[in-house]
Amino acid sequence: MRRKVIAGNWKMNNDAEQSVQLINTLLQKLPQTHAEVVIAPSFVNLALAVEKTKNSPIIVAAQNMHFAEKGAFTGEVSASMLEAIGIKTTILGHSERREYFNETDESLAKKVDTALAHHFRIIFCIGEKLAERKAGKHFEVVKGQIEKALFHLPQQAWTSIILAYEPVWAIGTGETATPEQAQEIHAFIRKIVADKYGKTVADDLSILYGGSCNAKNAASLFANPDVDGGLIGGAALIVDDFITIIQAMK
Ligand code: 13P
Repeated sequence: MRRKVIAGNWKMNNDAEQSVQLINTLLQKLPQTHAEVVIAPSFVNLALAVEKTKNSPIIVAAQNMHFAEKGAFTGEVSASMLEAIGIKTTILGHSERREYFNETDESLAKKVDTALAHHFRIIFCIGEKLAERKAGKHFEVVKGQIEKALFHLPQQAWTSIILAYEPVWAIGTGETATPEQAQEIHAFIRKIVADKYGKTVADDLSILYGGSCNAKNAASLFANPDVDGGLIGGAALIVDDFITIIQAMK
């Protein structure tokens, strides 16, 4: 079944104390919603976030994980380590990981396989850069990213996948895709998944929008039939804004 999801990607923000504060306020103010609410703190604060959100509807996700089960990968975190502290959801393929940490479609395909082998749910990020959008290549870029990292999967794996379309030019820039731009490419994404896996898989797939989604523009983005929620960066760090965004999901 297609779910509505509002996910906060905290990126490299919030130390332990700030994380606890944000979670506590979020729990106090959390509105009634049919959307799934996800937060993705940094690795070091994940265990604490799981502890603080137990008995609440908030789901805690990792921002990344390594594809190897274990071994000599200094500075990395494995799926089993995350599992051991109660994490069952991870973001993968964020454009900042692709840009600054050389993640490729090929390495991401391996991460996807490992995450699925551990029965994780994956929020998989895709999206074009500004030059690609200007050159009219955004459809092609997004299609390539999905094909290379996800089209080797068997059909049943798709129940564990959430896609997040995040145009790189909109991330942290204050420039948001218009509702029309978001709907256009979300519908395209759903169509390419339908062409490969069939209409039921595509209809059940949640496709989130990310990139300067905020308290002001969330409602107009979420009003689109193919926008099933948001992956929120900066605005997820401001509790009242995050709450407004959750409320914007009707
Ligand atoms: P901003 O909402 O800060 O633009 O970040 C979006 C994002 O990258 C979420 O993963």
